[in-house]
Amino acid sequence: MTNRKRVAILISGRGSNMSALIHAAKAPDYPAEIIGVFSNRAAAAGLDTARGEGITTAALAQSKFETRLDFENALTAILEAWRTDIVCMAGFMRILTPEFTTRWQGKAINIHPSLLPDYKGLDTHARALADGVAEAGCSVHFVTPGLDEGPVIAQARVPVLPNDTPGSLAARVLVEEHKLYPEALRRLAAGEVAYPR
Ligand code: GRF
Repeated sequence: MTNRKRVAILISGRGSNMSALIHAAKAPDYPAEIIGVFSNRAAAAGLDTARGEGITTAALAQSKFETRLDFENALTAILEAWRTDIVCMAGFMRILTPEFTTRWQGKAINIHPSLLPDYKGLDTHARALADGVAEAGCSVHFVTPGLDEGPVIAQARVPVLPNDTPGSLAARVLVEEHKLYPEALRRLAAGEVAYPR
């Protein structure tokens, strides 16, 4: 397929969602290609996986920069050098400045392990279980200045089972994340969804 969107993935850890995106993008009719993986942690396991797939990687530590904005400007320079069309955050554990999210508005998406707007932030599964909810899930959303607040593109739901722990629920949700994220990216790259104006 020609004119595939150039996608960079931002990770901080193991990168299982990253792997799901890389796998999906191998299909000849997928409208996006993964052209780079960036991490704010040089030790992120996902970087090794990406290199093993022959994908360009880069890592920068926030601690090497005076301000959050300096770090993000360096990140944007990398993304621009890669001629990035779409940024996929996949377990990227950084709070972003409005300058960065505005630069990438409509082009940056994130996966979050809850049915947004419920349970923004961390420890989503433990909080959902403590509330006794009957259903949990995951959301892919556009990135905006507010943490986990941007418009939702797609969601998947799973049941909460009687003896669930945060770990067992996370594992059930993760299976859905690995299907949802490639489908949400496909829709964005194909122009089937766009940032609401
Ligand atoms: C996923 O649960 C994702 O929803 C959340 O962080 C986790 C990252 O896992 N944002 P992985 O690195 O993709 O395996």
